[in-house]
Amino acid sequence: MGYKITEQSPAGAGVRGNLDDAMRLSLHLRTAYAVMLRLAAFPCDGPDDLFQATLRLPWEEWLPPDGYFTVTSNVKHPTIDNQMYPSLVVKDAVADRMQRQCGHRPDSGPERNGAVLWLRWQGSRAEVWLNASGEKLTDRGYRKRPHTAPLRESLAAGILMAAGYDGERPLVNPMCGSGTLAIEGALLALNRAPGLLRGNFGFMHVTGFEKNKWEALRAQARRQTVKKTPAPVIASDHDPHAIVAARHNAQTAGVEHCIEFHVCDFAETPLPDPPGTLAVNPEYGVRLGHTDALREEYKRIGDFFKQQCSGWQCHIFTGNLELGKCVGLRTSKRTIFHNADLECRLLSYEIYDGSRKTRKQFTTEITEGTENEL
Ligand SMILES: C[S@@+](CC[C@H](N)C(=O)[O-])C[C@H]1O[C@@H](n2cnc3c(N)ncnc32)[C@H](O)[C@@H]1O
Repeated sequence: MGYKITEQSPAGAGVRGNLDDAMRLSLHLRTAYAVMLRLAAFPCDGPDDLFQATLRLPWEEWLPPDGYFTVTSNVKHPTIDNQMYPSLVVKDAVADRMQRQCGHRPDSGPERNGAVLWLRWQGSRAEVWLNASGEKLTDRGYRKRPHTAPLRESLAAGILMAAGYDGERPLVNPMCGSGTLAIEGALLALNRAPGLLRGNFGFMHVTGFEKNKWEALRAQARRQTVKKTPAPVIASDHDPHAIVAARHNAQTAGVEHCIEFHVCDFAETPLPDPPGTLAVNPEYGVRLGHTDALREEYKRIGDFFKQQCSGWQCHIFTGNLELGKCVGLRTSKRTIFHNADLECRLLSYEIYDGSRKTRKQFTTEITEGTENEL
C-alpha cells in the first residue's frame, strides 16, 4: 500500500500515519487483526503514574464528550495482579479529564462498538493507543453461519497469500466448512477491499473522523474492484449443512456468483483446468475429531494429491504436525502460523505431472529440512 515499515515485531508492523491512514488501512488490510494509532507513551511505575499521565493527555481533542468509549489492555507490571484494574484507571482518568474540560463525562463500558482505547504497559513504559478498527478487523461481517471450527477470516487470507494465490488461476477448497478460504479467495481475486463489508469501525467514533473522506475511500475501493468474473473458485464438503452455511456466507459477502459448491468427499472435488491452487484445512484433532481417526484421512489427502492433482500447488493448513507427516509427501515449503496459542503449519506441496517425474524426484532431494522437522 506504499507505506514504509518503521517498526516490526512478530505480531505487528509499524508505519507513520494519521487517522486518514488508519481508515485506509482498516479498509484494505486482509490479514491484520487491528489498526492502532499510538496517542502517547510515558514512563509508568504504578497505577498512580498511569492515572496522572493519562489525565494530562488532551482527551477533549480526541473524544466527543457525548460519545462512548471502552478501554482494553495488555499489562505486565509487578504492581498489577488484576488485569482489569489498569483499564479502569485509564477509564477514570479519561472521564475525569473530559469532565474538567467539557463539563461532561462520556459513557464507557465493555462494548467495542464505539471508541476503543488500548493500554499497553510492559515494565516501566506505558503506551496509550487508539484502536482505530474497534471490533477486530478479522470479523468481516459475512460469516453469519460459522459451522464447525472455522478459520479466522484474516488467517484464511494469510494462508492464501502465503500459498501464492493471486486470483489468476483456479482455487479449489475441499473440506470448506463455512467457506472461509473460498470466500477470502474470491474477495482477493476480485480485489475487493475486505473493509467494504463492514459498517462500523472505531475511528468513526473519534473527534477527527470526517465522513466524506471515508466515503471517498470507499468509493475508490469500489472502483478498484475487478468487474470481470475471476478464475473458478470451487468449494466442497461432505457435510451438506456445511455447504448451506458456506453458500449463505458467500452470499452475505457478495461473492456467491464466483464460487461453485459441491457436496462430496474431498477426493471427489472436481478440478478445473488449468491447474491452480488447492488449499485444504482438515480437522486436526484439537477441537474436532481424534488424532488416531485422522491419520488415515491425512494419508488419503496425500494419495489424492499424488494421484489426482498433477500440476497443482497443494496446501494443507494444520495445527497437528504428527498428522501432517501422515500425508506421506515431501513438502516444498512449510510456513509457520500462530493461531491463537497454537503453532500451526501451512504445508505446501508441488505436484508435478507425469512428464516431469524426474524433476519431482530431484525436488524431493532439495526441499528444506527433513520430514521430521515438519
Ligand atoms: C476444520 S473444518 C474446515 C473449516 C473451514 N476452513 C472454515 O473456515 O469454516 C473441516 C471440514 O472438513 C469436512 N470434512 C471432514 N472429512 C471430510 C471428507 N472426507 N470429505 C469432505 N469433507 C470432509 C468437515 O465436514 C468440516 O466441515
